[in-house]
Amino acid sequence: MCGLIGIVHKDDNVCEKIYDGLEYLQYRGYDSCGIAVIQDDDFQINKQTGSVSNLKKNYSNGKIGIGHTRWATHGCISIKNTHPFVYENLAIVHNGIIENYSEIKDRYADYEWKTGSDTEVILKLAYEYLEEYKNLQKDDNDKSDSLSVLEWDYAFNKLCENLEGSFAVAFLDLNHSDKVFFIRKGLSPLSIAVSDEFAAIASDCLALSELSDHVIDINNGQYGYIQNGKYEIKPGNINKKRHIIKSPKISEKSHDTWFEHEFDTQPMVLSNALHKLNNTFTWPSLKPNLIDIIGCGSAYLAGNVGKYWIEKYAKILCRINMSSEWQNIEGYSKTIALISQSGETADTLSVLDRIQNKEVSTIGFVNTLGSTLSRSVNHIIPTFVGQEVSVASTKAMTGQMLSLFLWANKLAGIDRQNELLDVFAKMSNIIDLLPEYSKEVIDVCSNVHDLFILAKGNLVPIAYEGALKIKELAYVHAEAFSASELKHGPLAMINQDASQAIVFLAPSSSHLWKKMLSSVEEVQSRGGKVIIISDQPEKFKNIHYSIKMPYIDEDLAPFLYVLPMQWLAYKLAVRKGNSIDMPRNLAKSVTVE
Ligand code: AGP
Repeated sequence: MCGLIGIVHKDDNVCEKIYDGLEYLQYRGYDSCGIAVIQDDDFQINKQTGSVSNLKKNYSNGKIGIGHTRWATHGCISIKNTHPFVYENLAIVHNGIIENYSEIKDRYADYEWKTGSDTEVILKLAYEYLEEYKNLQKDDNDKSDSLSVLEWDYAFNKLCENLEGSFAVAFLDLNHSDKVFFIRKGLSPLSIAVSDEFAAIASDCLALSELSDHVIDINNGQYGYIQNGKYEIKPGNINKKRHIIKSPKISEKSHDTWFEHEFDTQPMVLSNALHKLNNTFTWPSLKPNLIDIIGCGSAYLAGNVGKYWIEKYAKILCRINMSSEWQNIEGYSKTIALISQSGETADTLSVLDRIQNKEVSTIGFVNTLGSTLSRSVNHIIPTFVGQEVSVASTKAMTGQMLSLFLWANKLAGIDRQNELLDVFAKMSNIIDLLPEYSKEVIDVCSNVHDLFILAKGNLVPIAYEGALKIKELAYVHAEAFSASELKHGPLAMINQDASQAIVFLAPSSSHLWKKMLSSVEEVQSRGGKVIIISDQPEKFKNIHYSIKMPYIDEDLAPFLYVLPMQWLAYKLAVRKGNSIDMPRNLAKSVTVE
């Protein structure tokens, strides 16, 4: 994962500009970060573990520099493994994964590798190829499609031949101290912006949005350099300019954390999104007979709820897949709905790469407009919930459910929208009551090692979302099941002595209500500690812990029952003193496969 940036500027304070850009890129990883600036023909390096704000202490002056924010894939979190890396006259920052890095390291067995990172092999090879070029017999072949800096053209072609995996890389070279060199291979995005005053490159165009209104995207397999007022891209040099769709840099949050802000404002945000989806957006008129729905994490789970509505209302068969597990069935997969908050998730983007058959129609349920996914699909259905900052998704997931619910209505030619405002009012009500209503349940759950979340029907994906949120925020082992699956194995886990609690999502409107009453008794008969989340908790015998919910129609229950799941995860994380908006080992957008 990671985010990289490179800037050449006429002013001497390139460090501050790189720092501002890294703040935008932090959603791509915050394990450690660093900046390298060329000053007096040498590199000034500043590296820190943790988030970008740690870098603010000592800026070096300079007109050219590169920066990086890291999500560790190879090598532990340490200053040693923090980019930029320097070797001789070169400095490097990298986003992506070099899949054959250990073979390459073995090839240079005598070389003293300084880091545990895969990136270091790019640096070493680049240096070797630049040196190799110097000793090459120069031929006078046509160089029109080569980079004017021939040794780099040679090195980039050799890197493409020898490196496997996905990589976006920026280099500084003391031999060309007015240029930032770059190369892109695979899914890792890169965009550049150039004017007379500056030239810049970054993993996400938003990181350049304080410098420019438009960017040029670097395509897979291209390389080149930027310098003040000038750039070269090879092969092909045909890249079009596009405007940066700036999402308002939200600085104001009404709570200590973005998570709580985004959790609390969901009803308001969803009603705004509903308004926009109805009034400012033209729905694609598609008549699919089979839909492949794909996504990762919370997006995948929102897709599962969408499948329920589309199959129920529009009677259209849906295949739901985690992006990484999606298999293209030639001739069948004609309509593919790709769900993503960031629009930069590599596993989801890789599906586009795997679609050979061009007849396929792709629809992107995307929140970040201007993202790679939003620019790569045939149709976009925006989520319209505004920028989501907290890594653990709340409003984007409920927003994705909203746009999927509306699409299911449209595909079926029905209109249940009038019920949505009532749903938003009930969401607002339970958000206000949860702090009071959930106290006991949070006490119980914060004193157990294992949590099981059970549900039936269209709430099974919500149980999985609850388990996901508890894992990513509270770092507590949580598993979800369909309550019907219990007796097929998981019931063996239940016993009264274990440090565990079993949470049931049980709306009385469910056509499976009676079966849910039995499932709860099944667990109670094994001595399980049961927690009921329902509008009629009193209907369950011998229940000690419950959260009273408003009544809600079965089909719309996912919008409401996801809230106590988000809240429980948040409160358990607060109890443990965890970083709420930046959970350990995660990033807001997973840009490597
Ligand atoms: C959810 O809280 C997580 N941040 C994660 O599972 C996320 O949903 C997943 O990585 C997909 O991200 P996307 O929607 O940006 O593609």
